[in-house]
Amino acid sequence: MTTPLEAIRQRIRPELERLNQHIASSLASDNELMNRVIDGYLASKGKQIRPVLVLLSARLFAGAVTERAVRAAAAVEMLHNATLIHDDVVDDSDKRRGHPTINSVWDNHIAVLMGDFFTSSALKEAISTCDLRIVSALASLGCELSVGEMDQIYNARFHQLNEESYFTVIARKTASLFVACVEMGAYAVGVSDDDPRLAALREFTRRLGLCFQIKDDIFDYFDEGRIGKPTGNDLREGKVTLPLLHALTASDHPRREEMAAIASKEDLGADEISDLIAFAKEAGGIEYAYATMNRLRDEAVDILNDAHAGAEGKALISLLDFIITRDN
Ligand code: IPE
Ligand code: IPE
Ligand code: MG
Ligand code: MG
Repeated sequence: MTTPLEAIRQRIRPELERLNQHIASSLASDNELMNRVIDGYLASKGKQIRPVLVLLSARLFAGAVTERAVRAAAAVEMLHNATLIHDDVVDDSDKRRGHPTINSVWDNHIAVLMGDFFTSSALKEAISTCDLRIVSALASLGCELSVGEMDQIYNARFHQLNEESYFTVIARKTASLFVACVEMGAYAVGVSDDDPRLAALREFTRRLGLCFQIKDDIFDYFDEGRIGKPTGNDLREGKVTLPLLHALTASDHPRREEMAAIASKEDLGADEISDLIAFAKEAGGIEYAYATMNRLRDEAVDILNDAHAGAEGKALISLLDFIITRDN
C-alpha cells in the first residue's frame, strides 16, 4: 500500500534524487575510513520528511522547486542526520533505521566526529545557496536543537514533570527543525519574511512538528515493530514523555503516587521501566497523547485551509495525517 508520504515523494522524485546527489557529493572526502562510515550510514536513508517539507514549501509559494530549494533541503537533511548521529551517542543506542548505529559499529569517537562533519557539511551546503536567510535559519537551528536537548536533560535530572516543560523541549528539539524547513523552502523562492502566508505555514508546521515528536515518543511505549530503533530508551534515560507525564500528573489511577515515586528515582531497572510503561497505558496516557495530537491537527488544518487551499496545501495535510498514523 502506498503511504501518503510515498505519494508525496513520487510527485517530487526528480528533486529528491538531486537532493541525494547533493548529500553524497557534500559528504565525499579522500579519507577511506570516513567514506566507509558514510556509505554504511547512508545505505538506509530514513523517511526524509524534512527535505520533503522544504520542497513542498517551495512549490506552495512558487509552483516549482528551484536549485536553491534543493540545496537548502540537502542542508537540512544533513543537519538532521548530524543530530541523530550525536543523539545515538548521547542515548547509547545501537540501532537506527533498522541498521546498527555508527557508535555501535565503530565507536563514540568516530560517531562524534562524523556528526560534526555532517553539521559542517550542512552549513557549507546552506552557504552554497548564497542566501543569508537560509544560512541564518540553519545556524540558529543548530543552537535551538542543542538547547532543546539540554532542556530535556534538565527536566530529567531535576524532575520537571509538567506539560509546559515537555512542550518546550519538543518545540525546541523537533518542531523548530520542521518550521525552519518551510521557512527555507519559502526563502529559496524569494518569499518575504513578513508574508502572512508564511506566518500561517509556520504555525501549521509548528503543530506538525509537535505531533511528530509526540508520535515518536509513543513508539517508545511499544515493541519495536517497524520503527527500526530500540524502544524503552526514553525512560532508561529518565525522559518522561507525554503518555507517562499525563498518567503521573493528571490521571486518577490508584497507583499514581507509587508510580510517581518510582519515576523520580535516578536509575531505573528493567522491571521498573516495564511497570511505568504498563501504568502509563492503564491510566490512559496513550489515548491522551493521541487526543493531544488530534487537537493540534485540527488547529493546524484550520490555519492552513485559511491560507493555502491548493494541491500543495492538501499534500501538507496528508503529510500531517501520515505523521499521526505512521508506524515508523
Ligand atoms: C527521528 O526522526 C528523530 C526525531 C525527531 C524523533 P525521523 O523519524 O524523521 O528519522 P528518519 O530520518 O526518518 O530516520
Ligand atoms: C529526538 O529525540 C532527537 C533529536 C531531535 C535529535 P529522540 O531521542 O526521541 O529521537 P530517537 O527516538 O532517538 O530517534
Ligand atoms: Mg534518541
Ligand atoms: Mg524517540
